[in-house]
Amino acid sequence: MSSMTKVHGQWSSRMGFILAATGSAVGLGNIWKFPYMVGDSGGAAFVMLYLLCIFMIGLPILVSEWLLGRRGQKNPINTMVELVEKNNASRIWVLFGITGVLGAFLILSFYSVIGGWSLAYIKDAVVGNFSGQQGDGILALFVGMLADPWKLVLWHTLFMLITVGIVARGVKGGLERAATILMPALGILLLLLVIYGMTTSGFKEALLFMFKPDWSGVDGSTFLAALGHAFFTLSLGMGIMMAYGSYLGEDINLLQSARTVVIMDTVIALAAGMAIFPIVFANNLDLGQGPGLIFITLPVAFGNITAGWFVGVAFFVLLTFAAITSAISLLEPVVELVEERTPLSRVGSTLAAGLAVWLLGIAALLSFNVWEEVLFLGLNVFDFLDTLTSKYLLPLTGFGVILFVSWILDKESVRQELGMDVYDFSVWNLITRFLAPIGVVVVFVGHL
Ligand code: TRP
Repeated sequence: MSSMTKVHGQWSSRMGFILAATGSAVGLGNIWKFPYMVGDSGGAAFVMLYLLCIFMIGLPILVSEWLLGRRGQKNPINTMVELVEKNNASRIWVLFGITGVLGAFLILSFYSVIGGWSLAYIKDAVVGNFSGQQGDGILALFVGMLADPWKLVLWHTLFMLITVGIVARGVKGGLERAATILMPALGILLLLLVIYGMTTSGFKEALLFMFKPDWSGVDGSTFLAALGHAFFTLSLGMGIMMAYGSYLGEDINLLQSARTVVIMDTVIALAAGMAIFPIVFANNLDLGQGPGLIFITLPVAFGNITAGWFVGVAFFVLLTFAAITSAISLLEPVVELVEERTPLSRVGSTLAAGLAVWLLGIAALLSFNVWEEVLFLGLNVFDFLDTLTSKYLLPLTGFGVILFVSWILDKESVRQELGMDVYDFSVWNLITRFLAPIGVVVVFVGHL
């Protein structure tokens, strides 16, 4: 059945909705990507810009996506079509629904590769490969994995199979229930690792690195990276949050819910940084290591603490779980589109979409070995996919969404829907009509 004709269900509670949205938001972006971006971009200055983008741009866009979804009650593309017609707006706006689905497809291809690394590390943790290792031993393990394309293909395939299996069978509900326990468990584990960090000699340096800004190295590209990551980590700009909004009851307060999701997402990211950087400094590891950062740092802790075996296994299991809940949210819109535009069934559409993502993912993972030298615009396939989506597609789509909500929709009805008084709404208007969109433009132009 296409989602056009589907009788739209609703979240059973505000709690269920928040969990699902948090499940999509909290993922590899928080634990894998955020720390290495902090490391690459010189620390606290990036963290500050990131927080600014999250609260000034990300939060209003999150609210806007939910609001659009709740009004449209359909998938992102059809929601845009309908709202455009209702509001006599140009069809151009529909384009933002389409770039969303394309972006989700591209992101999932490299996301799955990293999800595969996480699976591989469950195995390494189980067989005790971290035990007693220091920084160089752990690094060698990681380098060895990257050098073996077959291994990477195997883990990437397994990750895609799990994701496809869940989406095809439409059993997300159970997963969301599991999240009630597993997400807090991940939070607690990160906290334990931060405490471990406190016992190392690198803690103070890590604290300064993450929270005492040095603005001298900041340029347009740091800003764009922070902006792009704010979108990535909140799952914005892909119509995914819009789709979640379409299941949302009228009584749910959008601003409050957005605040909850944004705070949880941010706390997890900062905790991941505070777990990782003490290990980096204590072991003289390379800050600018890039995508491998968490895989060469945290196992050092697992290999040397009491109960490290258990903590290591648990950590990678929970990381994989967080990655899967996000991956599902990325595959879903692609599957919906295929299902709607082709004669394929739900299962057929999922397989087709999954296969296409899997193939592109293979190209992405080869950039860590045999295709290292294959470059597009100076970037290997992996970096190209990441850059194209995080720095261009996501901000562009988010920009469209926020402009549509703030300039095209009827103002008074939006004010009522957000439950704001006239004063609060004028602040909201200032942010969504001017500050956030201008911020996005300035960041783009500043980068050119
Ligand atoms: N937010 C997820 C993370 O941080 C990734 C993700 C899931 C995503 N769905 C998305 C990113 C939609 C952009 C758009 O890991």
